[in-house]
Amino acid sequence: MRKLNIAIIGLGNIGSYLFKYLNDNKKILTEKNNCLPIIKYVSARNKKKKRNIKIKKNQWLKNYLDSTKIKDVDLIIELIGGAEGPAKKLVFNALKNKKHVVTANKALISKYGDQLSKIAEQNKVNLEFEAAVCGGVPIIRSLKEGLIANKIQKIYGIFNGTSNYILSSMDKKSKDFSDVLSDAKKLGYAESNPSADLNGDDVSSKLKILSSLCFNSFLNNNVYVEGIKHIDKTDINNANRLGYKIKLLGFAELINNKIYQRVHPTLIKNNSYVASIDGVLNAVIVDGKPVGQSTIQGEGAGPAATTSALVSDISSILRGNIKFPFSLSSKERKKLKFEKILDRFFSAYLRFEVIDKPGILSNITNIFYKNKVSIKRLVQNPDKNKKSSSIIIITHKSKDKFLNKILKEVSKKKYIKHKPKLIRIDDN
Ligand SMILES: NC(=O)c1ccc[n+]([C@@H]2O[C@H](COP(=O)([O-])OP(=O)(O)OC[C@H]3O[C@@H](n4cnc5c(N)ncnc54)[C@H](OP(=O)(O)O)[C@@H]3O)[C@@H](O)[C@H]2O)c1
Repeated sequence: MRKLNIAIIGLGNIGSYLFKYLNDNKKILTEKNNCLPIIKYVSARNKKKKRNIKIKKNQWLKNYLDSTKIKDVDLIIELIGGAEGPAKKLVFNALKNKKHVVTANKALISKYGDQLSKIAEQNKVNLEFEAAVCGGVPIIRSLKEGLIANKIQKIYGIFNGTSNYILSSMDKKSKDFSDVLSDAKKLGYAESNPSADLNGDDVSSKLKILSSLCFNSFLNNNVYVEGIKHIDKTDINNANRLGYKIKLLGFAELINNKIYQRVHPTLIKNNSYVASIDGVLNAVIVDGKPVGQSTIQGEGAGPAATTSALVSDISSILRGNIKFPFSLSSKERKKLKFEKILDRFFSAYLRFEVIDKPGILSNITNIFYKNKVSIKRLVQNPDKNKKSSSIIIITHKSKDKFLNKILKEVSKKKYIKHKPKLIRIDDN
């Protein structure tokens, strides 16, 4: 029987769950993959920390980097996290020393994935990162294998469970952003510092990896990124009244040989599939030829879902084929044009909180006219007690730069009470 010696580096939420899973499921994994996985070594920062797993004394490494040098390690599973520091050192050294690597680290792959995949390719080892994108949703392997026949035009969806939980709970429970965020922390859905989840950076990292796989291109940092912190209960209620839901979506599209990557809160029709994805779930939609539209939905994070993805990668290595990390060899990957979204056309929702005085509405609509943005729908909600009025405008499709120009121009007006809002609409 073939054997594969594994070192698990990082025994936190994910590492300790994986350790237990591999021990408990050794027999079935061996039968399915015709190769025996052996956890030979482990490492973490603090050896004395209490963990709910049984680690033998001789499994502990003196130093985590020893795993990259020791002869009886075939596969290193990096579960430390972070684009820099120990995780980066570990993965670069492991690949240079001809060890296979499995990682759940989206920050590292979205930043150094091109360099790392080159080393893996030169040294004929695998670098697998299914768990880095959307947890248990098997989107990486689907793109590399199941959907290999397709020319992909667009990939989009909900790639962050924390922000989806927050937006859908604000809607369902009619609660404010800050209350829902503290609920999410109590339930373990948000980290103590959730900024990457809320400002769109987490989605952006995942999107870069996905678009690179979809379009056979190198990773590219040209992503428009906007988070959800400015969305409030009023926007959620307005969206409902207008027949939409607000979701934080990531999009990568190939249009006339140019790629557009964007992450932003989006108004999406309330009867659409994506609008129905609530809570911590993720959903990825792929538009390709000849397949048409394919959708995968599932748990986007947490130890159980992430372990499912890690074991898929480990099994792929147990079975024994060397694969290119990004599906194609580095020589075949393309340098495509990644464009900013300024010249793209979107319809949008704009909200202006103004003091209630005659002439203001016509001043605002004039600014729309001047910027050649035509109005599809306008709703005005005056509040006599506060002597204010909320103006909601839905536009026809207009260039993004003109929508932003309007926002900027109106923001400067003295009659504005709060920073105006612009949320793009996806009505394709
Ligand atoms: N949590 C999720 O739901 C989820 C989902 C998908 C992907 N991921 C990714 O999975 C990775 C791990 O996440 P996690 O939630 O398990 O993180 P975590 O709970 O913070 O665990 C990190 C582990 O790394 C260890 N570590 C830190 N510095 C080290 C060093 N220099 N040498 C050896 N070990 C070191 C820590 O040791 P100590 O235990 O001794 O402190 C800890 O065991 C990250 O890349 C994350 O983005 C997480």
